[in-house]
Amino acid sequence: MARTLITNVRPYGEEAVDILVADGVIAQIGSDLDHDGAEVIDGRGMVALPGLVDMHVHLREPGREDTETIATGSDAAARGGFTAVFTMANTSPVIDQPFLAEAVWEKGRAYGACDVYPVGSITQGLGGEQLTEIGLMSRSHVRMFSDDGRCVNDPQIMRRAIEYAKAYDVLLAQHAEDHRMTEGACAHEGETAARLGLRGWPRVAEESIVARDVIMTRDYGGRLHICHASTAGTVGLLRWAKEQGITVTAEVTPHHLLLTDEKLETYDGTYRVNPPLREKTDTEALREALLDGTIDVVATDHAPHGSEDKCVEFENAKPGMLGLETSLAVVAQVFVESGLADWRFVAKVMSERPAEILRLPDQGRPLAVGEPANLALVNPDGPWTAAGADMASKASNTPYEGMDFNARVELTMLRGTITHRIEN
Ligand code: DOR
Ligand code: ZN
Repeated sequence: MARTLITNVRPYGEEAVDILVADGVIAQIGSDLDHDGAEVIDGRGMVALPGLVDMHVHLREPGREDTETIATGSDAAARGGFTAVFTMANTSPVIDQPFLAEAVWEKGRAYGACDVYPVGSITQGLGGEQLTEIGLMSRSHVRMFSDDGRCVNDPQIMRRAIEYAKAYDVLLAQHAEDHRMTEGACAHEGETAARLGLRGWPRVAEESIVARDVIMTRDYGGRLHICHASTAGTVGLLRWAKEQGITVTAEVTPHHLLLTDEKLETYDGTYRVNPPLREKTDTEALREALLDGTIDVVATDHAPHGSEDKCVEFENAKPGMLGLETSLAVVAQVFVESGLADWRFVAKVMSERPAEILRLPDQGRPLAVGEPANLALVNPDGPWTAAGADMASKASNTPYEGMDFNARVELTMLRGTITHRIEN
């Protein structure tokens, strides 16, 4: 198999080395390695990270292939530095049976740009009433179950889901939103929504579910994961839960780390997302929580929508934003360029921790000899401007349109195969 030599690259932003990849694994790390027969990639100035892992994307296949497919979503993932993604079950049909999960997995494998893991739904058809066959699906590549897009609102259903998930040792991911409090809501309940005349989505709709579910996890066990934490109150609850030793993990999206509801001033549907963009006090609490480990990972919640669903009145816009091709740049801006953290931290929250939470044996591994060659090479100083039209995604609903970033993913490698490369 092909051999690739990456020269003068800085693993985790540290001292420059050469990395030789052969037969899909890291074969040697050192200086002045012999490049005999290997394709040579000049890694000067680049930071090498383990391939990124995204626990939360929507690739829209089956059902809405006009907005994204497993293929276009895999390309977007590769361009963002990802080597594994978990695609949510809220497709049409819903991923609530083993054969549907198998199909997603097989398509991802056949395309080959990124490992695409299917998420199974917790309830049939996301209806919130009948549990799916969690045991059967867990044998069809499903490691995580979620009704994401909808909350499992009924506490009795959630209790049973927690018990089944525990029995089969799979992760249960909750989209925390008490729908009884968010009917008709399209913006964070606060001063901005009041001024703009938009119906508000209060923080308590999220926090009350987080509180309920961590307490259920305390009493019934299993592994609970909180999707897209968006409020300072959720951070407080997670901190308390972790102090109690409750087995909960959580994610935050790049948009909840960077953007606030002030973006809604223009009524641009691009900024409608669920949970909604909150306030500065929330983004600050979320950043701090990611830094101290209260929140475990960054996940994009990459949610493509066509212009017919986005370029409409704000309250009629579908919630969701693209995230795969911009997340590394946003995280680098918020944490590395600001001096809050280093590239080791980025590797942890975007690769190692998600791989650990999902127990992926071949992702989020150390950059070391003998490990699978799943890599992202990042140019920390490669200025670029985000533009939806340039993205691999079929949709172009990026909230970062026209924004300048410094960090750029130059190359992604999945088991030794280059899945993305910027030609200089
Ligand atoms: O903004 C969102 N979009 N949040 C979700 O939970 C679902 C997602 C979607 O499927 O579009
Ligand atoms: Zn969600």
